[in-house]
Parts: sequence; structure tokens; C-alpha cells
Amino acid sequence: MPASASPHTRSAIVTRLRAAGCVFAEDEAQLLMSAAATPAELSTMVSRRAAGEPLEHVLGWAEFCGLRIAVDPGVFVPRRRSEFLVSQAVTLARQAARPRTVAVDLCCGSGALGVALATVVGQVELHAADLDPAAVRCARRNVADVGGRVYEGDLFEPLPGTLRGRVAILIANAPYVPTEEVGLLPPEARMHEPRMALDGGADGLDILRRVAAAAPLWLAPGGHLLAETSERQAPRLTEAVARSALTPRVVRSAELNATVVLACRGG
Ligand SMILES: C[S@@+](CC[C@H](N)C(=O)[O-])C[C@H]1O[C@@H](n2cnc3c(N)ncnc32)[C@H](O)[C@@H]1O
Repeated sequence: MPASASPHTRSAIVTRLRAAGCVFAEDEAQLLMSAAATPAELSTMVSRRAAGEPLEHVLGWAEFCGLRIAVDPGVFVPRRRSEFLVSQAVTLARQAARPRTVAVDLCCGSGALGVALATVVGQVELHAADLDPAAVRCARRNVADVGGRVYEGDLFEPLPGTLRGRVAILIANAPYVPTEEVGLLPPEARMHEPRMALDGGADGLDILRRVAAAAPLWLAPGGHLLAETSERQAPRLTEAVARSALTPRVVRSAELNATVVLACRGG
């Protein structure tokens, strides 16, 4: 359906989206009109969005690091703030100046972070993994574009053993919302993203502590773990990482409200 079709339709959609609380109703109307192939499809898409489904699930894609990443309903929508983690990973991969970077994207969801890293850096051997079969199905479509592989299972468990000691960049945007705060998230997240994508346990760090504990086994000498967290959680995650004999530092983007713990395996 042409994006320019019927100004009447467009203004009716904007009004409906605005009434449903969509702050960027004009932009969203434009995107939905561009995506729908028929008036019937447009009507369904507008209804889904007005009922509170994330725009990305309705469109079937999210913009991340300038890329279109496929995102299926029920799969975590990659957040703009995670572009900061990717930019840090790109810098580290370039500094390492290896002919080919071995990268792992743990808790990969749609695979957005690993795909963005591989796209920007090039020459990346990308492995991604997630416990949720729906995320794995979605990630396989995205990761195929950069020639990577996606595995299903708990954290490192499904990765090929041949990766041990070879990983230069280990990305982990794992769930890190403390259990008691999951109920405070916006309805779009609470109702349309799986709890296992959000809930990080009592203090939000249950999964990231497990990642930090096992990371030294998988990292190459000089390799880095990059874990997104909140500013408040960063000191506790830094301690966990240091207990694993990795050398941590915390980097922060005020603009994106993003905090990342970087941890290097010495040697
Ligand atoms: C916050 S989402 C992030 C997804 C993706 N990294 C991103 O930033 O778009 C966390 C992801 O971790 C996955 N997950 C949760 N527990 C896991 C586990 N024990 N092992 C592997 N993946 C897990 C969830 O299924 C979800 O896709």
C-alpha cells in the first residue's frame, strides 16, 4: 500500500494511534502504511498497535544500528541503548586487529547485537545462542545474513566446545531487571515480551553472574566480555567479574542511558 495513500486514511490512523497513547503517532502511521500490502492488512496492523502491541512486532522488524532486524511476536525488541554495547564491541574488535574476530552473542534474542557487530566490523565468525526457541528461530533468520550460527540452550551449554579459549568478543545482553521491578516495566514489555527475557532474579544479576563465572573458559587471551547492566548494578557486576579473574571497567553513555561492564581476560 503506497505510504501516500489517502490523506483521510492517514489522519484517521494518526487519530486512532494518538488516542491509544502512541507518542509518535504520525511516524508510526507512516510506517504502518508503508508496511501494509492491502487496506485489510493495514486495518489489522493499526488495531494491533492500538491494542498495545509493540510497533516492532506489528511491523515485523526493528531498526537497530541502522539495520532492519526481523523481530517476531514474543521475541525481545532490541533497545536503542544496546547500540552503545555494540559500539564498544566494534572498538575492541578493531583494536585487536585480528584477521577474523570470533564473537559470541549470548542471550541473543533476535540476534540484533551480534549481527550489528558483524556488519560493522566485517570478517567476524559469529555464534549466537538463546534458551527461547522463538528467539532462536528469529535469530537464525537475522544471523544468516552475516554467515553466523545460532544455537538453542542455556547460556554457554549449546556452544561448540571448539570455541573454548577462542572467543575475542563475548556479548551478553541478558535479562537484568530485578524480579520485583518487572511489574514496573511499561505494558509493551510486560505483556508482549517473555518474562524470561526480562527477569534477572532477585537483584537482576543471576544470569550475568553465571556468564561472568564461565566467561574465562571461553575467552581468548586478551578477549573481552561486554555485559549490559544498569548503572546501579554495575558495581556488583564488576565485583562478580573480578572474582572470575577478569579485569573489569565500566563504560557509560549518558545520551543512551546505557551502562556496560567490559571485562578483559589477561594473558
Ligand atoms: C533482554 S533479552 C536481550 C535479547 C538480545 N540480546 C537483545 O539485546 O536484543 C534477554 C534474552 O536472554 C534470553 N535468555 C534468558 N535466560 C537465558 C539463558 N539461561 N540462556 C540463554 N538465553 C537466555 C531470553 O530468551 C532473551 O532472548
